[in-house]
Amino acid sequence: MNRTIAPDGLVLSAGALRLRPTAADDRGGVIAAGQAPGIGGKMPWFPSPFPDHYADGWIERAASEWRAGRHFVLSVIEAESGAYVGSVVLSVVADDALELAYWILPAWEGKGAATAAAIAAVDWARTAIGPARIVAKTRPGAAASQRVLAKAGFTATGTEGQPTFELKLG
Ligand SMILES: CC(C)(COP(=O)(O)OP(=O)(O)OC[C@H]1O[C@@H](n2cnc3c(N)ncnc32)[C@H](O)[C@@H]1OP(=O)(O)O)[C@@H](O)C(=O)NCCC(=O)NCCS
Repeated sequence: MNRTIAPDGLVLSAGALRLRPTAADDRGGVIAAGQAPGIGGKMPWFPSPFPDHYADGWIERAASEWRAGRHFVLSVIEAESGAYVGSVVLSVVADDALELAYWILPAWEGKGAATAAAIAAVDWARTAIGPARIVAKTRPGAAASQRVLAKAGFTATGTEGQPTFELKLG
């Protein structure tokens, strides 16, 4: 896998959305995500509570993890307004594998944003990073997230109690 990817100028297109490495402009969006009941405290990325000032360190960590080739954190942005919609994270979990995670702010749910962003991120990772497989986990019964993964081409590999998913690329 290629883990050395320059973040500068990277923009992925996904219909009315754009994905780009997380940056200081996303501070308000990161705070909104970290404080949304369905995201903050539920995703390992956000401690709970998530006070506003955590966002600065969070964004710096996203940048340093990208430079280290461990986590590629992409913000999902509405192209027209520049508004932060959510995030997609691709994490290196093995020599040949990435893990996909994502979240969408409540105001943007149910509009296909997670699906479009996940597909764009997977397409990009396939060529830019070149993993043999991408894996994902959801909480049990997380029907919307599982539907997103199915639409992005993932196959269920786990159990009802421990849902895991895989997309083979190699
Ligand atoms: C899960 C989440 C990412 C979905 O984002 P979203 O932008 O609303 O998702 P989309 O609109 O792209 O697609 C959701 C799909 O799930 C379906 N869906 C939504 N709620 C559902 C439910 N309760 N049961 C079954 N399917 C459901 C939608 O109908 C849609 O499928 P369709 O296009 O075939 O109709 C978002 O709710 C979220 O961020 N949740 C909190 C964080 C999280 O759980 N992240 C995932 C862990 S990796």
